[in-house]
Amino acid sequence: MKDALGSVQSLLILGGTSDIALATARRMATDKTRRIVLAARPSERLDAAAQDLRAFGAEVDTVAFDASEVESHEKALGEVFANGDIDVVLLAFGVLGDQAADEQDPVAAARVAQTNYVGAVASGLVCANALKKQGHGALVVLSSVAGERARRDNFIYGSTKAGLDTFAQGLGDAMHGSGVHVMVVRPGFVETKMTAGMEKVPFSTTPDAVADAIIAGLRRGSEIVWVPAALRYVFSGLRHLPRPLFRKVAKR
Ligand SMILES: NC(=O)c1ccc[n+]([C@@H]2O[C@H](COP(=O)([O-])OP(=O)(O)OC[C@H]3O[C@@H](n4cnc5c(N)ncnc54)[C@H](OP(=O)(O)O)[C@@H]3O)[C@@H](O)[C@H]2O)c1
Repeated sequence: MKDALGSVQSLLILGGTSDIALATARRMATDKTRRIVLAARPSERLDAAAQDLRAFGAEVDTVAFDASEVESHEKALGEVFANGDIDVVLLAFGVLGDQAADEQDPVAAARVAQTNYVGAVASGLVCANALKKQGHGALVVLSSVAGERARRDNFIYGSTKAGLDTFAQGLGDAMHGSGVHVMVVRPGFVETKMTAGMEKVPFSTTPDAVADAIIAGLRRGSEIVWVPAALRYVFSGLRHLPRPLFRKVAKR
């Protein structure tokens, strides 16, 4: 339960090694969050992330969680909620895939969808229903501007984010009035391990900036957050460009 000043007491991260999620967790741990659960595939990176957060004074647990293994979500995440209320769930897992290779390998392409979309539908519902049972809490979903309009260079990833974004918006409507707040976050290009080695684009941002926007959005009760905020206006224009023109603009 949030404290009297509205600070988040407990945080569950799905995709507990995500650079954006860990930047958010560090910010929250600095600001009174005492219980943090990192749900992720077991790895040395996960252990190191937990250790790093403990240095901020938080009690940190890890839970084995594979987004693509949807049958396991109810049990793995149910146990987290059984151990105490969660104020904020941050759905942060995702894979970029390799667009050129995946176009030639339909099974690999489907794996991107299985993780980013199918895995998010299953784990998002498990968490939203658990938050609803508690009667309070927020589900923050990391979508992407890549889902706003199909781009030739990343439409497999982009289509998974479009599906995720629509799902999360609808889930927010379904939870309306239940005490559960669903917030969709649409970052542009963020410098993380997911984009390492890629050329930066205009409006590139950092995990810390996304973390700040997530925390500010939670305080405001926002339903959709763009990072940086200006992308909202950029995309309201790009969305209406005729396709031949958009194809030219979207070419890197
Ligand atoms: N970076 C960007 O430019 C950008 C822009 C917009 C939106 N986003 C979205 O923001 C979210 C966080 O991305 P990030 O930038 O922080 O990248 P990141 O550091 O690469 O984080 C993504 C995490 O997803 C986890 N993951 C992948 N497959 C998984 C699976 N099957 N089960 C559980 N976890 C899995 C990975 O964990 P392990 O590999 O350690 O298991 C990885 O730590 C993603 O959804 C991404 O699509 C990123």
